[in-house]
Amino acid sequence: MADGEMWFEGILFPNVFKPEILRDIGDNFVVKNDDTIIVTYPKSGTNWLIEIVSLIYSKGDPQQIQTEPAWERSPWIESNIGYEILLNQCGPRNYTTHLPIQLFPKTFFSSKAKVIYLIRNPRDVLVSGYFFFKELSIVKTPDKLQEYFELFLKGSVAYGSWFEHIRGWLSMREKKDFLLLSYEELKENTRSTVEKICEFLEKKLKPEEIDLVLKYSSFKYMKENQLSSNKQMIDHFKNKNLTFTRKGVTGDWKNHFTVAQAEVFDKIYRERMAGYPPKLFPWEDS
Ligand code: A3P
Repeated sequence: MADGEMWFEGILFPNVFKPEILRDIGDNFVVKNDDTIIVTYPKSGTNWLIEIVSLIYSKGDPQQIQTEPAWERSPWIESNIGYEILLNQCGPRNYTTHLPIQLFPKTFFSSKAKVIYLIRNPRDVLVSGYFFFKELSIVKTPDKLQEYFELFLKGSVAYGSWFEHIRGWLSMREKKDFLLLSYEELKENTRSTVEKICEFLEKKLKPEEIDLVLKYSSFKYMKENQLSSNKQMIDHFKNKNLTFTRKGVTGDWKNHFTVAQAEVFDKIYRERMAGYPPKLFPWEDS
């Protein structure tokens, strides 16, 4: 359990984050036209996408990717260390955030920065978050899935409501510099989705370079190697159960939700997501 909670503008954050930094990011951080930003709600496959984008920039060569410290590869803007790095970084930047859109830098809205927004079936996000956050001391997380389930639906979990996050960021989806991707399509059609990312980033890779991107960002490789930020996170929190590569599948929620939970979730999901074309969300087919 976390020692204390940190709320900022009605959103729950890991308690190591600082309100003054979050405020400064929103009001003063200058987003540049050549920035590339990975945006996700936590547990949607963020680290997988970071791996893929880093490998695209290095044309599939893992040796050229910053590994020590791993967070410098795509600094996490709202973390104290990530913000510091970004303030001092020159040239095209690639960074990551879980921030809901209303807390993102105001300068973003008049910039041409590229955003990749990765979404995932919220049922899988919930299960993944439950297993992850209960190992993490900086976010208060109940031991029982049912309790976490209720908090998730109320939006009283790290980074607030999934539904609000989606609603906020999807308002940008018609923008030319915005690429909407889903974990499900990345799983199902990895190669063509990686090619789509290359096109969006205007990076031309040869087929054999794409092969390398796929190889080094595969679940197996990421789990067995320390290219991902896993090792540093485990060392930092001194908890070997912490992992960014747990199962790496779609539909794991079916192994954890009761029939009653699935029904409650469906009802709330339908109410909250009314009005969106279902084809935006591949998990609605399954
Ligand atoms: P599970 O807990 O369902 O396994 P994030 O990086 O946003 O914290 O997301 C973590 C989720 O992405 C975890 O989901 C993790 O297993 C999955 N993941 C990480 N790397 C992956 C990969 N190479 N392929 C598929 N899924 C991956």
